[in-house]
Amino acid sequence: MWKVPKFIKQSYLVFLLALLLYSSFGFSFSRTEATTSTGALGPVTPKDTIYQIVTDRFFDGDPSNNKPPGFDPTLFDDPDGNNQGNGKDLKLYQGGDFQGIIDKIPYLKNMGITAVWISAPYENRDTVIEDYQSDGSINRWTSFHGYHARNYFATNKHFGTMKDFIRLRDALHQNGIKLVIDFVSNHSSRWQNPTLNFAPEDGKLYEPDKDANGNYVFDANGEPADYNGDGKVENLLADPHNDVNGFFHGLGDRGNDTSRFGYRYKDLGSLADYSQENALVVEHLEKAAKFWKSKGIDGFRHDATLHMNPAFVKGFKDAIDSDAGGPVTHFGEFFIGRPDPKYDEYRTFPERTGVNNLDFEYFRAATNAFGNFSETMSSFGDMMIKTSNDYIYENQTVTFLDNHDVTRFRYIQPNDKPYHAALAVLMTSRGIPNIYYGTEQYLMPSDSSDIAGRMFMQTSTNFDENTTAYKVIQKLSNLRKNNEAIAYGTTEILYSTNDVLVFKRQFYDKQVIVAVNRQPDQTFTIPELDTTLPVGTYSDVLGGLLYGSSMSVNNVNGQNKISSFTLSGGEVNVWSYNPSLGTLTPRIGDVISTMGRPGNTVYIYGTGLGGSVTVKFGSTVATVVSNSDQMIEAIVPNTNPGIQNITVTKGSVTSNPFRYEVLSGDQVQVIFHVNATTNWGENIYVVGNIPELGNWDPNQSSEAMLNPNYPEWFLPVSVPKGATFEFKFIKKDNNGNVIWESRSNRVFTAPNSSTGTIDTPLYFWDN
Ligand code: NOJ
Ligand code: NOJ
Ligand code: CA
Ligand code: CA
Repeated sequence: MWKVPKFIKQSYLVFLLALLLYSSFGFSFSRTEATTSTGALGPVTPKDTIYQIVTDRFFDGDPSNNKPPGFDPTLFDDPDGNNQGNGKDLKLYQGGDFQGIIDKIPYLKNMGITAVWISAPYENRDTVIEDYQSDGSINRWTSFHGYHARNYFATNKHFGTMKDFIRLRDALHQNGIKLVIDFVSNHSSRWQNPTLNFAPEDGKLYEPDKDANGNYVFDANGEPADYNGDGKVENLLADPHNDVNGFFHGLGDRGNDTSRFGYRYKDLGSLADYSQENALVVEHLEKAAKFWKSKGIDGFRHDATLHMNPAFVKGFKDAIDSDAGGPVTHFGEFFIGRPDPKYDEYRTFPERTGVNNLDFEYFRAATNAFGNFSETMSSFGDMMIKTSNDYIYENQTVTFLDNHDVTRFRYIQPNDKPYHAALAVLMTSRGIPNIYYGTEQYLMPSDSSDIAGRMFMQTSTNFDENTTAYKVIQKLSNLRKNNEAIAYGTTEILYSTNDVLVFKRQFYDKQVIVAVNRQPDQTFTIPELDTTLPVGTYSDVLGGLLYGSSMSVNNVNGQNKISSFTLSGGEVNVWSYNPSLGTLTPRIGDVISTMGRPGNTVYIYGTGLGGSVTVKFGSTVATVVSNSDQMIEAIVPNTNPGIQNITVTKGSVTSNPFRYEVLSGDQVQVIFHVNATTNWGENIYVVGNIPELGNWDPNQSSEAMLNPNYPEWFLPVSVPKGATFEFKFIKKDNNGNVIWESRSNRVFTAPNSSTGTIDTPLYFWDN
């Protein structure tokens, strides 16, 4: 007799069970994450909590890859020769790898981590990097951090094979954890030694073998294959010392040059700086990023965005998101420290490029308020309000207390009470929190340097799941997932002094109130505060973990008030009011991405988004691919380029608007050149008749052109491919006075290829 194969029986049973559950309890399987065709979980959203892992420094799950073939074994920190990293010489490899992250997924998951940012997974320069010291000794460094790119199309063999990487991706995704990779598109590796009079070093870039069609060839395991049979799986693509194709700027170390030109075109730490205005370079970097996207990652942490040409970044991000699989996460390292003349550039970078910022302004204020106490809690509160006004997408910035490039926060603040207070505030602030690995274990570096902070977690802790910091993250990541006031809400300061802060996050009726005292040994009394919360008692979400307790709201003469309360040393209270907002009114909390072309996928997050909805960009209706109460997947319609508000309408109710920038098409770079003399304080800008050039509005012009060879100015600008447009150069001074060229409009046509770039002739300013 024909038998039903076992697996069919099983899945049939599961199906029946699901049906039963569905019909008897009215469960519906609502989709709140954007699973995509590449197998990605979807972009990181403000409901997520990110954990930053320096892959080599987390956990060694596979000692067999500790000394890959060809690697100088003395560059592995193993003086006792037992093939285990000692965690002592932090300049050397320690052995952490993809398998180590897989091994620790239960630890991460239980902490409430929903996304990891790992080191760049691709092959790095594997030879020693020598730093000559003033005392004649030589420090020996490795590329354990992943910032010395060598071949973007192969894995870093210290971390594992491509199969290992795919297993990591799948294991993370099965546990609801998104995967963000570090990605360096600014440079390859060091090509001159700044500690030895800039003596030549490596800096070379390699690529896999190509087939007859020019496509890279990989074997069944996803490793580069020896297609041409020359015994090697890689070929030299570019060498900064013999730069035949103009891959690099080749201008040498930036040194003390603080001009925008210096930051973008000269070398960061003598790392060979790519010429991102060269179409060959754009093509290679876009191919590399798409390659990793096709492996099903959920996002990119873009290295060194301060050092890149924003016109390149905008096109790069757009190329990645327009490729199969929809938009992924993009956040970048625009490293500023305030007061910083680059603040305005930093602040506007996300809306100019589509790449969000790591929130260095939040980091600075948190260090000062909770770390060294050089600023008051009131001024920390002021920062939250100022940045909420300054940033357009403040809930998408990635906030942090520390990272691999700065002093560990624990070193600045060894006292548990303010340390925990900072962590609780990070977890409840606007933006997506990023936890530097080991924060939950109070990793204490030996000094204030960044390298001392890149400790080997395996030899530094026993991954204790019962620390207070671990539980703070656990409880608050859960709240972040469930109360949209934290993910999507506004920020309001209810009360603040030098040492105390009470702030409110609010998304429509949902509210979270956080009351925090940074002083470890002082108690403060908070006066009665007006509130819109209903009368009642609100328990502390942390359950007293940081000495908090419940709070009561009473009606006093017609006004609801939070009763006066005290905050003891280091006390943190988190009170949550989380009513359902109902299914009838659509409300938008966030949109990813915030910039794209017609035909691109866009994810709209919020509440009340299920059922029959109409999505519009301005007045143009968009196709809805799928939707649930908390998420809509839609397609950017063919509509006027420029800023268009997204709205969702259900019946007769329309949601709040959300700002989106529709691009006119595939982005390429036009590099404008003009010779113009200016008065002190004046700069030259480009303005023209397409949205990318401000539609003739001088306030929406390009950024100021660069003038390393004054009176010649130049600037790469991102424009739609193939577009013919009109433009003029204008002069603007610091007071916003505008002088136009008095001639008729100039006309130019952008290149037709997707990765194209083109220089205009050198024009002369026309009075
Ligand atoms: C910033 C990274 O975070 C840092 O660690 C690295 O050295 C530089 N970029 C160069 O890639
Ligand atoms: C906007 C106009 O459309 C453009 O043609 C002109 O050059 C500028 N204004 C300056 O008058
Ligand atoms: Ca290993
Ligand atoms: Ca650069």
